[in-house]
Amino acid sequence: MAHKVALLLSICLQLSRASAGGITYSRGDKNAYLTARGGDDSSDTDFKTLRGQLTKSTAADGAKVTNYDDPNTCSIYLAPSSIPNSGLGLYTSVPLPEGTQIGSSQVGILLQDPDFHNPSRNEVNPETFNLLGNYVWSATPLTYGEHQVQHGESVCSGIGMMANAHYGLINIDIDSTWKNKPEMDGTDSHSIMAGKHSTLSDVGRGSFSWHSNVKYHTLKSMRAGEEMFLSYGPQWYENAEREFGGPIPSKEHYDEADDMLRQFVERFGRDNKSAYDKLLARIQDKRLKAALPNRVEDMNATLEVGTARFSVKDSIRSPDWLTENGVCLDNLVGGTSTIAQAARGAFATKSIPKGGIITTTPVLTLNRNHLKLFKEVHRKDGSTRRRHVGHQLLLNYCYGHPDSSLLFFPTSPSVSFLNHANKTNANAEIRWSSLPYHKSDWLDMSLRELKKLEKTGLLFDIVATKPIERGDEVLLYYGEEWEEKWMSHIANWESSQKNFTDLLGLQTIVDLSSIEKEDIIKTVGELEEEPLPSNIMTRCGFALPSETEEAAKHGTVKGFSASDPKFVPCDILDADLMEGTDRYMYRAKVEHRSSETGEITLYSVKYDSAQNFMRYTDKPYTRDQFSKGAFRQPIGFSDGIMPEHWLDLKK
Ligand SMILES: *[C@@H]1O[C@H](CO)[C@@H](O)[C@H](O)[C@H]1NC(C)=O
Ligand SMILES: *[C@@H]1O[C@H](CO)[C@@H](O)[C@H](O)[C@H]1NC(C)=O
Ligand SMILES: *[C@@H]1O[C@H](CO)[C@@H](O)[C@H](O)[C@H]1NC(C)=O
Ligand SMILES: *[C@@H]1O[C@H](CO)[C@@H](O)[C@H](O)[C@H]1NC(C)=O
Repeated sequence: MAHKVALLLSICLQLSRASAGGITYSRGDKNAYLTARGGDDSSDTDFKTLRGQLTKSTAADGAKVTNYDDPNTCSIYLAPSSIPNSGLGLYTSVPLPEGTQIGSSQVGILLQDPDFHNPSRNEVNPETFNLLGNYVWSATPLTYGEHQVQHGESVCSGIGMMANAHYGLINIDIDSTWKNKPEMDGTDSHSIMAGKHSTLSDVGRGSFSWHSNVKYHTLKSMRAGEEMFLSYGPQWYENAEREFGGPIPSKEHYDEADDMLRQFVERFGRDNKSAYDKLLARIQDKRLKAALPNRVEDMNATLEVGTARFSVKDSIRSPDWLTENGVCLDNLVGGTSTIAQAARGAFATKSIPKGGIITTTPVLTLNRNHLKLFKEVHRKDGSTRRRHVGHQLLLNYCYGHPDSSLLFFPTSPSVSFLNHANKTNANAEIRWSSLPYHKSDWLDMSLRELKKLEKTGLLFDIVATKPIERGDEVLLYYGEEWEEKWMSHIANWESSQKNFTDLLGLQTIVDLSSIEKEDIIKTVGELEEEPLPSNIMTRCGFALPSETEEAAKHGTVKGFSASDPKFVPCDILDADLMEGTDRYMYRAKVEHRSSETGEITLYSVKYDSAQNFMRYTDKPYTRDQFSKGAFRQPIGFSDGIMPEHWLDLKK
């Protein structure tokens, strides 16, 4: 079920080559470890609690606390994928029951209207590298993300970016708890309500993503050493088959292949070569053929594990192989930062000595220009031009050098939570990775060559510059340019006494969840008397009429198969009590925008329940992230990291 939902929702994740993961238990004291990892329900772990628990477990465990620091007790590894030519993948080193959360909650960063702001990303042009486009998800995993903009895409670092796809062995999926529990969605609404964070006038608002509750879970029980595989959605095939130069079977193909082999063995036995070759020659469907073993000699081995598992024989690794070839990815966990304006921060789950590697992360290469935001300005003569007005929020999560058009986005879990501290207080730094998976020869390439690669191959190590204790917030020095820009942002903010109400041009900013608590969806007439706050609107669940034809015949929309109604703008015209019940029948005018032409069509729809099909949402572009005054600056490298010949913007 969840799997199916992901298929429907993830519109544009195409290819992922790297991998990494997270897990939630299995060291000495399970509860303490859960807490250290942000808990099994880590919507927003309070730092003080986290730290308190860490210390408590330390005390309780006495001398045994070193257990937590044992580098061999890692539960998630980044290591070469079992799928040939697919780069790195993620493995669990502990068995995981079905439905287990993997790792801690991760940040999701909403890209606003990338097609509009970066039209070049759809061009096939070796000069415009667009690695990011291969890794984004639809805005839906961020719940209200899809309501906040015209067209949103999500950058969700961690497992969603790193696990590979093998469609016969999908064993993990992105969580959709937010579907039935909107208050758990990890949006800004929730965090403001929790009252832990800044106020409307806070200088840091809009400079980080509040979507910090992106989670993954196992779809079936996983064995120790098993590689994690995630579905990238149906559109992935075309690109992937082009990329890998061969057919990629789906789950259905592997199932069909398994059936075929069983029938074959019944008729011809296990080693009739001529009959098997004849069978292969008869199969037209290339994907089905690719799911079958090439040689009859492999029949026994295939029957034992199934065609899907047989196709990636190394997809369950031994513990020794993992410790030898893998990089531990569960040393960092997200929690509430010790820094006031920063919201989330990254905390160490183990003590790391000075000079030790805290974590390692593959990085995506990005073009700084692709993160620019534009506004269309109408000239007097009727023509339009595009004016550069700001940057995508993603800029704040990228690493770069002020003199280079190249930016890097780290994909490993919790790395995006690493905050800035001044030189004195920082306890970690970025270095090119010392691991063999880091393609250090790429550093000699010209920028042009690098852009043509459209692959990940560069890795950072996050290295402790001071001894780090378990529970410490890990802090990087973001560099002089960053620090200066931040200081001037604060100074300007204070001198002009700005606040977000002003910047958004709205009278009121009311938190969505405070509205939702009322739980009564008002009709147009009722709203005339008591209007909604100006940043809130009403939406109704809707699917194209063809999909609801059957329901429409009965004059009532019962549930769009209850799986995935898209929430679109609507007006509730009236609500009539249904005879003999205490329930209402709603009549609504619903807006449907064609994804192809952008044309809006109005439909009249009847609903017999408000609960599942009507809700209040933010109006597009009213959240902090869209404010013009929000801080934007990439994280700076310390000297010597960015090769000289990549400093293309140097005057
Ligand atoms: C293999 O199958 C063919 C039918 O395709 C049959 O004629 C032949 O005898 C079988 N060979 C063996 C060794 O069983
Ligand atoms: C496959 O297993 C059967 C017994 O189940 C055995 O007779 C046969 O020799 C095996 N074939 C190969 C190629 O190993
Ligand atoms: C660094 O930051 C800490 C904590 O905010 C502060 O106490 C200290 O004075 C700062 N040091 C410098 C050199 O700015
Ligand atoms: C923001 O500024 C407006 C106008 O300057 C003011 O009316 C409002 O009270 C301010 N809001 C906050 C939360 O400071």
